[in-house]
Order: sequence, then structure tokens, then C-alpha cells
Amino acid sequence: MATHSMSRREFARLFAMGGSAAILSHQTLLGSKPVRITYPFTSAGTVDWKTVRSQFLMPPELTVLNAANLCPSPAPVLETVYNYTQRLDSEPVPSYRAEMREVKEHTRKQLAEYLKVTPEEILITRNTSESNNWVSNGLDLKAGDEVVIFSDNHPSNNEAWKERGKRFGFIVKEVLPLNPHPGFDYYLEAFEKAMTPRTRVLSFTHLSNTVGDLFPAKELCVMARKRGIITLVDGAQSFGLLDVDLSDIQPDFYSGSAHKWPCGPKETGVLFVNKAIQDRFWPSMYSAYKGREGLAQTHEGLGQRDTPALYAFGQQIEFLRKIGQGKIEERSGDIATKIIEELQKIKGVYIYTPNERALRSAVVTFRPANLKPAKVVKALEEDGIVSASLGGEDWAGVRFSPHFYNSNSDVERAVGAIRRYLRKGL
Ligand SMILES: Cc1ncc(COP(=O)(O)O)c(C=O)c1O
Repeated sequence: MATHSMSRREFARLFAMGGSAAILSHQTLLGSKPVRITYPFTSAGTVDWKTVRSQFLMPPELTVLNAANLCPSPAPVLETVYNYTQRLDSEPVPSYRAEMREVKEHTRKQLAEYLKVTPEEILITRNTSESNNWVSNGLDLKAGDEVVIFSDNHPSNNEAWKERGKRFGFIVKEVLPLNPHPGFDYYLEAFEKAMTPRTRVLSFTHLSNTVGDLFPAKELCVMARKRGIITLVDGAQSFGLLDVDLSDIQPDFYSGSAHKWPCGPKETGVLFVNKAIQDRFWPSMYSAYKGREGLAQTHEGLGQRDTPALYAFGQQIEFLRKIGQGKIEERSGDIATKIIEELQKIKGVYIYTPNERALRSAVVTFRPANLKPAKVVKALEEDGIVSASLGGEDWAGVRFSPHFYNSNSDVERAVGAIRRYLRKGL
């Protein structure tokens, strides 16, 4: 694969670009260099996806279909992290440090507006793993209580519940996945059957990271709420991809990472904590530098943090909001549709992800006939295509997770490579 490192000149060119797109200076803190953000709109007001792609450092010849794992950040995010770190480290004076700590509140406001909830309900964590663990650690559960989980949840969810179950004596009950996606009604019934008068918590994943199955988050939360059951919706695969409206879904908890679909900085994340549950939720960390708003005043004590990254997180959320999250969801879903359509034409390929748009989004997993998924992923990387392999008995496969920075030519390259490997062998 051709490697590419961006020279200072190229970097400067990237920021000088704009065409018909508007270039705005982001609001800056005292003395920091302004960051220029290109809002990717055509003169007709539609989104110019090529301009979106041009803001990423990934060279054009690299096809990155791995958003479900880790997304690159666009250049303005990197520039913000760099500029503010540079300023902080050149003049580490108390006044600037105090000002930098305040940036969390700007980001909190952005996150609240983006998820359609209040800033008092937003905790800025380090990632989904931490958010999920704060939930399983922060609720009073005792021997005899039950927690219902989906067995295809991520380990930061399921392993945490099971380990804490051993420690505190509560029982963990699992709802098994079925493939192909059996439909929302099947899962509503399966979760309902698993709930008993002793169930205290229901924990499931909004969009699964394995095969990309979408779950009826709102209906499951309604069902749980009627029974007084607390809900944790793991949003690692929906935050930044779907147009998530938590005022509609109304979970008790919702978790996400900035460094996945939002394309934000690394090691920043979110935990939404519904006002209705806050008096029953304990902090997992006690330290200095908590937040200024709502629950963050007691539950966000993580000590010294990477404040430039926290600021860049808010900036990136603002960027997604300006493009329109609905448009991003549609664009990523459309590219996934194209992937599914093209893979369906290849004999021997089995697609685990549902065809039906209402049951999935932009995570597509398939078995490449008799080829070993890990070998396929390695060959793809050598051909300049980034994907992921899933092990395990249930869904050994290759995962393509396209995002708004991809295009149909990425689909042609990636599916063309699969076709070639199947024809020639690996
Ligand atoms: C559904 C789900 N939950 C949680 C996580 C953990 O995310 P992070 O590594 O950002 O904490 C992942 C990561 O892939 C995930 O897919």
C-alpha cells in the first residue's frame, strides 16, 4: 500500500481550499490561533461530499471502510488540538489553564443540542467503555436483582455486567441474537420474555457492531420504563451516524465515543444520564476538575484532562450539526446499500447484515465464501482498503463500515477486490 505523509505545504493547501464552500474561523480562546473550518456546501446549499472528504488527511487512493472501529478526524479537529496544546504548553499560566477547563461547557452544550437533551444530563467521558462501566458500577444492585442484556453487546457492556454480578450477587440474563435479523417484533418479544418482576436493568446496543443490526431503541425503552426498569442504550455505533433524538427514545443512559462515527478527537466520549435516574446513580470517579453544569458537578471528576481534545470534540459536533445529522445518516446508509447490492451479485458471499434499510444502517458484515476473513482483511489493506475482520463461530466475516467521507468509487474498489480474491484465491 502506498504510504502518504502530509507535508506542511499540503497541510497549508488543505486549509486554503474552499471553492464555493464557506470558510469560517471558529471561535477562539484567548491568544490561540484561529482554526479555519470549511463548511462543505455547494452554492445551491446542498452538501458537497467531495469537500467533506478533502478535509481528511487520508490520501485519495486510500479507501477507509472502518468507521465502526475508529474514524479519522478532519484536519480542523487536528489543528484545534494542536493549536490549543501549543498555546497551553507555551504559556502554562493559571489564567489560560482555567479558561481551557471551561471549554467542557461549550462542548456539553453542543452535545446536549445534538442529542436533544439538556446540558445537565451530559457527562463528558473518555469513551463508550468508560460510559458503560460508569453505569454498571454506579447503580445500587443487590443479590436477587436481575439485569437483562443482549448477548451481542460489546464487552465494555456485557463483561462489566457479568463481573459486577459476581461481586454484588445480581443475576445477568441474556437475550440471544438471531441471524438474519428477525425483525423488531421478534426482539421486543424476546426482551419482554426475559424481563421479570426482579429485573432492574435492560442493557442493549442501538446498532450492533458485529453484523450491524438495528434495535428498536424507543420501543424497548418504553417497555422497560412501564415496568420501572432502567435502560442503558450503548450508542457506540449510532452516535455520529444516526440522527439520534434522545428526547424521543428516552433511555435512562446512552453512551458513545467521539473517536468513532463523530470523527472527533481520540479518547473523548459521552454519557447521557436522564434526569429521572440521576438520584439513583453514583459517581465512579471522585477527583478534581468536575464540570460546571448539572450532573457533571458531581459525576465528572476525572482530574486533569486533555482540554484541547475536549474543545475539539465540541467543535466537531458543531460541524456535524451544520452539515445535518440526517444527511450524514442518509449518505452513509446509501453507501452501505450500494455495498450490499454489489456483494449480493457475488456467488458464495453471505451477507449477515439485513438488506432492509429499516433494520440496519452503515455497518455491513459478510462471509467471503470460503476465504478466511483475516486473510481477506490483510489483502485488502495491501490493496489500500481498510476494513475489519470479525472472528468467532457465529459471524466470522469481513466488516465494511462506510461513512460520509466515502463514495461509490470506494465501493467499487472494495467489492472489486473481493471479486478478484474469490476468482484468484488468496
Ligand atoms: C457497541 C460498542 N460498544 C462499546 C464499544 C467500545 O468503544 P470504545 O473503545 O470507544 O470505548 C464499541 C467499540 O467498538 C462498540 O462497538
